[in-house]
Amino acid sequence: MERGRVVSPVFVGRAAALDRVAGVLRQAALGEPAVVLVAGEAGVGKSRFVAELLAHRAPPGARVLAGQCSGFAPGSLPYAPIAGALRQLLWSSEDEEDLLGEAGQAVGLLLPELTAAGQAAGAGGPVALDQGRMFAQLEAVLDKVSASAPLLLVIEDLHWADRSSLEFLAYLYYGLGWQRLAIVCTYRDDEAPAVPELGAWLADLRRGTRLTEVSLPRFTVAELGEQVAAILGEAADPGLVAALHERSGGNPYYTELLLSAATPAGAPGGVGTPPAALPAALREVLLARSAGTAAGTREVLAVIAAAGHPVAHGALAAAWARLGMGEESLLAGLREAADRHLLVPVAELGGYAFRHALLAEAVYDQLLPGERGRLHDAWAGVLEERVTGGGTVSLAAVAEVAAHHHKAGHPGAALGWDLRAAEAAEQVGGVAEAAGCYQRMLAAWDDVRDAGQQAGLDRIDLLARLARAEELAGDLSLACTHVQDAIALVDPATEPLRAALLQARLCWSLYSTGRPAAALGPAAAAVALVPESPPSLARVGVLASLGGLQVMVGRGGRAAATVAAAAVVADQIPDPQAAAIIAEVQARVAWLTGSPDAVALARRALRLGQHPGAGNRAMMAFNGLADALDAAGNDRGVLQACYGGYEQIRRRGGANFGAFLLCRACCTLVACGRPAEAAEALHTALRVRPSGILELYAQLAAALLATGRGDFEAGRAAIGRCRRVAPEPLPYGWWYCAAAAELELWAGDPERAFAAAAEGLAAVDRTDYRRHTGTLAWLALRAAADRADLARARHDTAAEDQARADADQLTRTWSDPPWLTAEPENRARALHALLDAEQSRAADQPDPQLWARAARCSRACHRPHQAAYASWRQAEALLAQHAPPPGRGRLPANRLRHRPQYRRGPVAARDRDAGPLRPDRPPTAAARRRHSPGSGGAAGVDPPRTGNPRPARRRPDQPADRRTALHQPPHRSRPRLQRAAQTRRHRPHPGRPPRPQTPRPVTAARSA
Ligand SMILES: Nc1ncnc2c1ncn2[C@@H]1O[C@H](COP(=O)(O)OP(=O)(O)OP(=O)(O)O)[C@@H](O)[C@H]1O
Ligand SMILES: [Mg+2]
Repeated sequence: MERGRVVSPVFVGRAAALDRVAGVLRQAALGEPAVVLVAGEAGVGKSRFVAELLAHRAPPGARVLAGQCSGFAPGSLPYAPIAGALRQLLWSSEDEEDLLGEAGQAVGLLLPELTAAGQAAGAGGPVALDQGRMFAQLEAVLDKVSASAPLLLVIEDLHWADRSSLEFLAYLYYGLGWQRLAIVCTYRDDEAPAVPELGAWLADLRRGTRLTEVSLPRFTVAELGEQVAAILGEAADPGLVAALHERSGGNPYYTELLLSAATPAGAPGGVGTPPAALPAALREVLLARSAGTAAGTREVLAVIAAAGHPVAHGALAAAWARLGMGEESLLAGLREAADRHLLVPVAELGGYAFRHALLAEAVYDQLLPGERGRLHDAWAGVLEERVTGGGTVSLAAVAEVAAHHHKAGHPGAALGWDLRAAEAAEQVGGVAEAAGCYQRMLAAWDDVRDAGQQAGLDRIDLLARLARAEELAGDLSLACTHVQDAIALVDPATEPLRAALLQARLCWSLYSTGRPAAALGPAAAAVALVPESPPSLARVGVLASLGGLQVMVGRGGRAAATVAAAAVVADQIPDPQAAAIIAEVQARVAWLTGSPDAVALARRALRLGQHPGAGNRAMMAFNGLADALDAAGNDRGVLQACYGGYEQIRRRGGANFGAFLLCRACCTLVACGRPAEAAEALHTALRVRPSGILELYAQLAAALLATGRGDFEAGRAAIGRCRRVAPEPLPYGWWYCAAAAELELWAGDPERAFAAAAEGLAAVDRTDYRRHTGTLAWLALRAAADRADLARARHDTAAEDQARADADQLTRTWSDPPWLTAEPENRARALHALLDAEQSRAADQPDPQLWARAARCSRACHRPHQAAYASWRQAEALLAQHAPPPGRGRLPANRLRHRPQYRRGPVAARDRDAGPLRPDRPPTAAARRRHSPGSGGAAGVDPPRTGNPRPARRRPDQPADRRTALHQPPHRSRPRLQRAAQTRRHRPHPGRPPRPQTPRPVTAARSA
């Protein structure tokens, strides 16, 4: 055995995996970015695999940045591995300003000690960034680096990752375009991750198309033989190899340990068999490595293990001194540990690290609680002295002090440090990690006598802060619980304002969970608590919240009264925020009640909301304006408002709401027949994951797009999530009911479609949202007509009568309905026309003229899918008119050859990417029944189809459920010319109408 060698200098096996990943890296260097995940058990060789890849298979000229997730306090330090990678970048770059550009702020917050921006901010207090801006700035740095050379970003040990890092990596992943970037991550798959979100994160990435996964197995006997031979520097004895394989199971690290235990380092001569007393478990083997050392050496190992990461010599010496030991013993211990390959020097740190993290874990695990406490106490003292000793303090340093205090059993001291760590985490948008700090504080609270004093805040504040962090992190129900706990602790008699603010917070949290009606109670309680005089911004705020919620639940009259009371108060205080708040809710009331001034008021609200002193009101005002313009039938205005709001929010922060606006734009784009743009916008929006109610439009847009693609399964899943996001039927229920009804119609299930539309109609009944129900009424009537059609095909008279009765009932209820007066005129006309035409169909007298009118009116109000549908029905009605008597004659297709209506629907649908209405669709049951020779007998009737489902044609790489639909990068659009050529290819031959196809059975279509 070569003296002192414990690691194989030769990289063993894994050739196929290396080739595969090297190929991915080569492609990435050419502008096809990718993510590579390397998984395997502890010690199986993930880090070595990556090291080999970087050393010998990296694309020429590639730059490597590597970061490590922290195993010391796993999951608790936001962006830990990202900061590590950036630290490397800063160390290796000359011109920081040129490198970071505008992203200096984010990097300065993460690494204040290394950046000019961080140090400058340190003096005047750093400027916080929310998660959206943090992500954007960090991405900008990586983009800049990858623009000058291919970039390999290595993130080690994801099983210890924090949520912010995972979310940032997902953000990067879904933003991959043409960057020369590969992200290589390793993780242990035999260990529970630090944050439970890792599982969902992995599942999410797997639905994308740019992921390569490598799972490293243990070594075979032959591979292990190669490893042993390389370590020994001579051919290995087969008996030894077999024994080592049996004991290590093929784990390379375990093998190294067994081998070095078999032959003590430096022993001359050959190697015998592993000692008979070799421990069976890896951990014991690891400990056996350190057990043979002197007591002082074991102590040194324990101190470094307790530090949780590689340590600088100076810090180690300080901790050693605090433990009351002399420097000589430290040096002796270090020397022996290095000689035995337990520790390795780390040059850039001027310190030491365990040769392998597993050894550190084993050393730490075998310490007794008292021993650990003593060591953490020493480290807490050393680090606290440094942090409080002046200079720039990093988030990591503060979090580390807090963790050492916790582990040392100093809950009192930990409280204050946790608070500092939480605040620092919030400054970088690390809301999940901040919530973690607050939760730790809450857990320790009762164990500390004067906790409030030690922490510098009381329990009520702590709960309120925790709730806010949880809300921002998307843990909405926890947030509600914690605000309620805080409310229970406040005495409203002595602290009415505080109680009111908490009620307002609860109101917002409940609203965020999609329950505006439930939020009404806390909103009213807040109003009751804030005194009427003197007039105050707080009073305006709570009244406006109540008014806003009354709008949400469709009570326009009550809302108007509440808002009027709020306006009286606002008039008495010269505060731009109060003016903005009032303008915004006034606009909402006007929108709900169908006032002609709604748009003007919404524009005014936006103007006032953009006043520098108006806080963040502009965000809401953009949404209000979009609603008002939508009600006025101005699609272009809606898109402008949404995109304008999105852009502004991107610059100023509030990414979640920006994503909400973008998703809202998606829904309008779908309605206007622009699904490709909608998919693109949705994809962009979902890079930041809107949570709670803000997720609603994302799901809605996903459902609409999936329906358009004919992917009904994905559409149903998205609608299911809409229901979970907004469990109360108002104000959003009618939208997803309409989406569900439309989906079921195309899926050929008119019963479910009718039920969904009826559910929507019931939800809005007796509210001011009734005026928005034109679409629902049309969908319900359409479903009833489909049901009647089906029943006729089955000769089920009772069902037909029931469907017709339902249709009549709907027509009675909704003919000349008040709601249409509040619709934009052109949309009302189209809906009227559709309702009339559907009624003719339900009565089995489909009228081509009515359908022609419906198509015309739908085109006039820019609803191409609606128009395509009407044209299709028109064609069907024409066919029916020209049908020969049952059993005689052939399909009179030639007679229709000059009728463009027959083609218009399908062709328009194809041009608009409206899946279910594509030209390859078969005719409906009704048309087939009328034309099929021998129709009229049950036996001769094909299984009826009322919708026209094109089988869901999912690309193989396309995920099937929400994240699928949501996160699927949009198709790269085909070049215009190619598209035009395809369109030509598919266009029916002039003069030859499309041939009706053999109908597919319903079940086959559904299961497709
Ligand atoms: N293919 C290989 N050829 C030679 N030696 C290897 C190979 N794979 C792993 N080893 C050795 O096994 C030991 C453990 O490997 P490594 O540190 O890469 O494991 P890991 O999977 O990253 O473990 P952890 O989960 O603890 O991070 C190292 O000393 C390494 O040199
Ligand atoms: Mg490793």
